[in-house]
Amino acid sequence: MPRFKVPAIPSSEITSESAFVSRRRFVGAAMALPLAGAAARALAGDTWTGPDGEALTPEAIVTGYNNFYEFGLDKTDPAEYAHEMTVDPWRVEVSGECARPGDYAYEDVIKGLTVEDRVYRFRCVEAWSMVVPWQGISLADVLARFEPTGDARFVEFTTLHRPAEMRGQRSVFSSIDWPYVEGLRLDEAMHPLTIMAVGVYGRDLPNQNGAPWRLVVPWKYGFKSIKSVVKIRFTRRQPRNTWNLTAPDEYGFFANVNPQVDHPRWSQATERRLPSTLFSPNRRDTLMFNGYGEQVASLYAGMDLRRHF
Ligand code: MTE
Repeated sequence: MPRFKVPAIPSSEITSESAFVSRRRFVGAAMALPLAGAAARALAGDTWTGPDGEALTPEAIVTGYNNFYEFGLDKTDPAEYAHEMTVDPWRVEVSGECARPGDYAYEDVIKGLTVEDRVYRFRCVEAWSMVVPWQGISLADVLARFEPTGDARFVEFTTLHRPAEMRGQRSVFSSIDWPYVEGLRLDEAMHPLTIMAVGVYGRDLPNQNGAPWRLVVPWKYGFKSIKSVVKIRFTRRQPRNTWNLTAPDEYGFFANVNPQVDHPRWSQATERRLPSTLFSPNRRDTLMFNGYGEQVASLYAGMDLRRHF
């Protein structure tokens, strides 16, 4: 049995290696990820596909059409400028309600944890979407290392703040109060679908996608998936999150993909699956919880999702 239940893949696609969970690999000091599992099959022109048989978004789009405002406002800015960010050495500061706070080397934080292939739909709040073959570590496994106490109800994440290497942080036009911060309720963070991605398409995560590691929460809008994380803090109270601070009427804390709750300036009922062009928009209906409702809807039982958007 696979350890995690991800949305159905046609049984014809499931190989003996398991399409859900790749061969187990252990992250050591050397960070280069060999091509393996889903990504290798995809690159080999195999018929392996995403959830419900959806095609993978081409690698050039996944790594070339990005939001990473630390490097500029245009979708092509991250791919152009993110190489200016130094990702080795990388440290992670852990604080708050846990038994093992500290200032850790990134290698120590992830050492020995399993990297798995996870092909997820990725839905941006701007109403485009992709299907992305990530290589990731279960966030629950990461957080467990720090032994959260009974008072930890939320987790806050912070991105690197290094204006010398991040031109967007130097820009006078930026309306964002750096560093970028995000948060999850602890049960969302510990959910088996939630990962820290360390690779995409079978390679180390490129800087523009949030090297060396970034959050991926597939049932939430993309802005929750904070990149290049340097701080993890366990809190009693709901943490602040950058887009809510920047435009509170437009972006909430939960940010669950929900076709019934429109953005104040546009509908969230449909999305453009990339690649999408004027003449071939590739538009499709947006699914509640981005299609992961069976796995995650119970986390929000009894909550008014219009109010908690
Ligand atoms: N993380 C940081 N630090 N800075 C950002 O600007 N943008 C977010 C999210 N994480 C962002 C970030 C948004 S709006 C989206 S849609 C996704 O990253 C985009 O991820 P991708 O470029 O890997 O597709």
